[in-house]
Amino acid sequence: MDFSFEAGRVRLRNLRPADLPDFAAYRADPNVARFQGFDPYTEAEAAAFIAGQAGAAVPAAPGNWVQLAIARADDDQLLGDCALHRYAHEPRFGEMGITLAPRWQGQGYAQAALRGLLRYCFLELSMHRMLALADTRNLPCVALLESVGLRREGHFRHNGWYKGEWCDEYQYALLASEWAAPR
Ligand SMILES: CC(C)(COP(=O)(O)OP(=O)(O)OC[C@H]1O[C@@H](n2cnc3c(N)ncnc32)[C@H](O)[C@@H]1OP(=O)(O)O)[C@@H](O)C(=O)NCCC(=O)NCCS
Repeated sequence: MDFSFEAGRVRLRNLRPADLPDFAAYRADPNVARFQGFDPYTEAEAAAFIAGQAGAAVPAAPGNWVQLAIARADDDQLLGDCALHRYAHEPRFGEMGITLAPRWQGQGYAQAALRGLLRYCFLELSMHRMLALADTRNLPCVALLESVGLRREGHFRHNGWYKGEWCDEYQYALLASEWAAPR
């Protein structure tokens, strides 16, 4: 049974084989990969990724990541994907990531998706603390995380080796006690 969670204008659900053409197109875009830990995907890598995630358990077992489709609620159009990881040492601590296809950026879909993911994590999974890392140069990501209420709590110098260089990252977090469920 597929996982599916409605979040206003978007739906978070398992990735499916039918998502492959859209998924492969944006994951192959160097601008999408620019501030992420992955290089642009080949078609074969995209297909293998979807095959590995289709029907995956949500949430994944602690210590593992699960990738969810962000689909438009109206027509199920794939807009992007988001990821959720619960830590092995403390499953009430989680981390998330998000990617939107360029044509769907700047329209509030990422905000809706992250609000939905936070709601799911705090209400359904009883998570205590959610965290996100952002390359300090990734201004759209910084704006997004702050717009959904995450607090910047750290600036980690040279925290990752991405695209051939050391990169600084901001750590953002939100506690269940700080999260205000939208009414
Ligand atoms: C990071 C990322 C997901 C942010 O996406 P985004 O499209 O900027 O975020 P949103 O969908 O929330 O859009 C925000 C904009 O929509 C606007 N907006 C909010 N609600 C809206 C609505 N209901 N209708 C229309 N626009 C709306 C906001 O005002 C904001 O506009 P602005 O950019 O002019 O300030 C995106 O830049 C991305 O995928 N980047 C590549 C991958 C990446 O780097 N991911 C982060 C790795 S951690």
